[in-house]
Amino acid sequence: MTGRLPSRLVLWFIGLLCVALLTLFLVCMTTQNQVPWQVMSLQNFRFFSDKNNSISLKNQPSAENELDTELGQNSLQKSDVQNSLRKSESGNEAKSDQANSITISLKPVAKPTETDFFGDWYATDDFPSQTNCPNNIRKRVPQTQFAEMFLHNIPVLQWAKHFSPEEYQRLSHFSGAHGWGSVRAEVLNSSLAILNRTANQMMFDDWENRADRSDCVRCAVVGNGGILNGSRKGKEIDEHHYVFRVNGAALTGFENDVGSRTSFYTFSTNTMRNSINSYAHLGYRGPPISKETRYIFLPDHDRDYILMKAASTHTAIDQGPERSKKPPTYFGEDVTVEKFKIYHPDFIRYLRNRFLHSNLLKTSARGIYRPSTGAVMLLAAIHTCDQVDAYGFMTPDYTLYSDHYYDKQRHEVHFYANHDMRMEMRLWQELHKAGLINLFMRR
Ligand SMILES: *[C@@H]1O[C@H](CO)[C@@H](O)[C@H](O)[C@H]1NC(C)=O
Ligand SMILES: *[C@@H]1O[C@H](CO)[C@@H](O)[C@H](O)[C@H]1NC(C)=O
Ligand SMILES: *[C@@H]1O[C@H](CO)[C@@H](O)[C@H](O)[C@H]1NC(C)=O
Ligand SMILES: *[C@@H]1O[C@H](CO)[C@@H](O)[C@H](O)[C@H]1NC(C)=O
Repeated sequence: MTGRLPSRLVLWFIGLLCVALLTLFLVCMTTQNQVPWQVMSLQNFRFFSDKNNSISLKNQPSAENELDTELGQNSLQKSDVQNSLRKSESGNEAKSDQANSITISLKPVAKPTETDFFGDWYATDDFPSQTNCPNNIRKRVPQTQFAEMFLHNIPVLQWAKHFSPEEYQRLSHFSGAHGWGSVRAEVLNSSLAILNRTANQMMFDDWENRADRSDCVRCAVVGNGGILNGSRKGKEIDEHHYVFRVNGAALTGFENDVGSRTSFYTFSTNTMRNSINSYAHLGYRGPPISKETRYIFLPDHDRDYILMKAASTHTAIDQGPERSKKPPTYFGEDVTVEKFKIYHPDFIRYLRNRFLHSNLLKTSARGIYRPSTGAVMLLAAIHTCDQVDAYGFMTPDYTLYSDHYYDKQRHEVHFYANHDMRMEMRLWQELHKAGLINLFMRR
């Protein structure tokens, strides 16, 4: 008896060792796939830091620093991102004499660091304000709890000037809407080159010619929430300078509640196609088409860049799900390149990192998580309009309303794994209480 016990223990021990080794092996295999060699060559690029909106690359957080500070952390809080930014910032003051052009080489590491994933630093665009509105949103932000996170010169839109091999290196670290990781350089190069007009660079490109121009740009941002059913807000919405709409925004028959004008239609190719498929029976035929309507792509995939180019040059699409022999007609037969805009991936990533830093980012869904298309639309308006009135966005009493104002039969709000609608709902409440937006609520 006494002789057998130790040998059983040894067997046990060997068994455990095998399991541990196997687990280690599996972990290594999965993380290795995600971490290629990363080489960034960055030239003359200006990045943001919390303290100073216009520091240049010489003050840019060194990649090695971040690897040291972030390695081995599994869970991440927003404050962690900010702390690591601060750490690297202070560590960089000493390096401020370095040349403008730096090549940073990262060795392969065990797992992508959290700062690599979030990339909480951004290009800057100094775009002069289009108005002299005395008390606009951006002037009120510093007195609110959003002061720290709000970047006044984040690029909201991208256009021809934004493509360069250096920028491609920088942004290809981020996938989906958050970077250029899922788009080939040739596609970006040729698509963004199309957007070389002044109109592609600013939100309110017709402002100077508007008869109803005034001191402040007043925007109505219209979500598709069921709260608008029976609201009779249509006239009020249409009386704004600009009306923003998103995805399946059906108008015919709903004018009393939601208005009839669309100045900006925001969508990704995927969400637009889904809306056309899902809402055809409700009379939704595709994006609104009118003289004033501009189209703002939210680029999730290369298909967004491809469709944008084909639509604005009236050429056929020879690849991907939108492939067709004829030029696409979603935006009307005579649409011109001046009508197209496309969100900058830095803007989407900034919104995810700072305004909608969801707990989903701690789960396996973090790779697919992004702010909803409606959320990007509202936050883009907050970063460009002088005043924002928001309609049809989710409110705490959302269970009282159908999912959409255009639903034929009432049904509950759908929640998707790639968005955090409850967090968005709380954000709208906070922005409303802070006086930055005026959110339509029924109670
Ligand atoms: C920000 O950095 C720039 C250039 O390094 C400098 O000229 C400017 O004074 C700084 N601004 C603040 C507020 O620190
Ligand atoms: C971008 O396109 C231009 C013109 O077609 C070409 O000359 C240039 O080499 C391209 N650059 C890259 C990085 O693909
Ligand atoms: C924009 O690019 C096109 C070629 O793609 C060129 O013909 C046109 O002159 C450019 N426009 C401006 C304003 O640079
Ligand atoms: C919209 O409002 C009307 C009138 O209150 C109601 O009869 C209808 O059921 C509502 N539609 C939906 C989809 O909730």
